[in-house]
Amino acid sequence: MQSHKNKTKIALIGYGKMGKEIDSLCRDSAYSSGFEVVSISFKKMTDSLDIKGIAKADVAIDFTSKDVVLKNIEAVAKLGKNLIVGTTGWYDELDAAKKITAKYKIGLLYAPNFSIGANIFLKMVDFSSKLFSKFPEYEVYGLEIHHKAKLDSPSGTALKISEKVKGLNFTSIRAGRNPGFHEVTFDSLADGITLSHQAYNRVGFAQGALVAAEFIKNKKGVYTFDAVL
Ligand SMILES: NC(=O)c1ccc[n+]([C@@H]2O[C@H](COP(=O)([O-])OP(=O)(O)OC[C@H]3O[C@@H](n4cnc5c(N)ncnc54)[C@H](OP(=O)(O)O)[C@@H]3O)[C@@H](O)[C@H]2O)c1
Repeated sequence: MQSHKNKTKIALIGYGKMGKEIDSLCRDSAYSSGFEVVSISFKKMTDSLDIKGIAKADVAIDFTSKDVVLKNIEAVAKLGKNLIVGTTGWYDELDAAKKITAKYKIGLLYAPNFSIGANIFLKMVDFSSKLFSKFPEYEVYGLEIHHKAKLDSPSGTALKISEKVKGLNFTSIRAGRNPGFHEVTFDSLADGITLSHQAYNRVGFAQGALVAAEFIKNKKGVYTFDAVL
């Protein structure tokens, strides 16, 4: 067990479903004695960033919304703190985030999906598409399902898979409570193969975000979850 002094100090930015999940994991002695939440920003949307608290942290973890994420990155960078960004839907602003990271010489790791299983699923889809690319009789299509509160569509994970697999489009469903389902089918007249990943809850995302926080702690530059794997 790490002593209190050696714990990685986390500043949570956003305290919705993901922020709360990470907070409870940090308090869960069975899982993680290695992290301590020292600051929580946006317990309510009307709150402002807890600048004093973030200044005391080793790493900030942002799970908020695409509308505020770039402002949050800049504020954290100005404090010289490294951060993890789990928020999705903002990747058209990635270049601006990279400039901020370079200017303030900090480390930033972002990922549309922090679950280990989902990242391995991504690699399996990538590998399969390379095999199928020699056989034009196979078509590829995707389906993703998320709970009705998820704002971005298609999901960041679906966009990331589509970047790698030529001709792949996802159908998105926003309904119910599903924390995250992605499925890719390679289909021909003769047969079909379907690969899928189902997150059962948000624990995997929270665990991955904390593993990433430990990874980014003393680094500079921009990383994705691939670097952690
Ligand atoms: N990378 C991954 O593995 C992963 C996994 C799950 C989710 N996500 C992404 O992470 C983000 C958050 O997901 P979530 O399920 O935790 O969402 P959520 O439950 O809606 O929580 C979002 C949090 O951000 C706050 N917030 C939203 N808009 C804000 C604004 N304009 N200014 C200040 N605070 C604001 C919310 O405040 P209020 O509570 O007051 O609204 C809440 O605390 C989403 O983009 C989601 O797609 C990523």
